[in-house]
Amino acid sequence: MPSFAPGSGLTTTEAPFIEAAKANGEIYIEQPFDLYSADNHEAWRRLYAQMLPLWERYANDQFMKGIENLCLDPQRVPRLDDVNKFLSKLTGFKAKAVAGYVPAFRFFDSLRERDFPTTITVRRLDKLDYLPEPDIFHDIAGHVPMHTDPAFADTLVRFGDCAHTAAEYAQSIKDPDEQIRVLDSIIKAMARFFWFTIEFGLMRRPNGKGLSVYGSGLLSSAGEIAYSIDSPDCQRYPLQLEWVINQYFEIDHYQPLLFVADSFDHVFSLVDELEKWMKDGRLNNVAPGEPLVAEADLRSFLDAQVG
Ligand SMILES: [Fe+2]
Repeated sequence: MPSFAPGSGLTTTEAPFIEAAKANGEIYIEQPFDLYSADNHEAWRRLYAQMLPLWERYANDQFMKGIENLCLDPQRVPRLDDVNKFLSKLTGFKAKAVAGYVPAFRFFDSLRERDFPTTITVRRLDKLDYLPEPDIFHDIAGHVPMHTDPAFADTLVRFGDCAHTAAEYAQSIKDPDEQIRVLDSIIKAMARFFWFTIEFGLMRRPNGKGLSVYGSGLLSSAGEIAYSIDSPDCQRYPLQLEWVINQYFEIDHYQPLLFVADSFDHVFSLVDELEKWMKDGRLNNVAPGEPLVAEADLRSFLDAQVG
């Protein structure tokens, strides 16, 4: 591994350290904390200051408890080790640094082990609203506070179980073309469910007091969090499994359609149902369209050691 100057930066899509790790085929990496630049810390500080009043207004109560319990530093990019000291005591989850993309099966399997693959780069300071790919603010400030909640943490683990069930199911199909066709459909269903809950989920507040946000994509975007609750341009419907698994989504603009869960128990019960439907072959023919399933994601399921 070449050496990198302290403070030289871990900026999204512009970090030589990450490029070198990827070129090396590494998935899990260390967080080279001294590489963060002054701009990286400043980006974190501004994002946190911008989001805090929006979280107070829009975020789910469990998220706010999570932010408190993690003791995140509003001024600086956090060390994952520090975050994990608080997080692992609560639910056993740990944020683990990754170089970037993790093949789908490995991603879900990590959740099953209560490891959360975590991006360590920071978005550009001059483009705080633009997210070409997840960054540490999305992963640590958007996702990880929810992982302090036991019911939510268990839901992520169940996603991992689902991935195992999917791999076993697909590996049992003899005809290679049919195997790929079915697996493509199942991964699409799982990705859509994950997207409309964990990434972009809304939840009904108790006693009819409106809606709250628990999806990390919304919790890490200053523009979209307010839009998701207040804008008449966004359609919001009760979370339904049969709809969500057949609903395409696009990642490059605000979501025009969001789904509202009743509670975390509700989301958990739907993951159970998703797994049942999978076993019954009811995910084999979901509607075509986004997201497109990458070859590497299909392979990760077919090559998985399961059963
Ligand atoms: Fe995410």
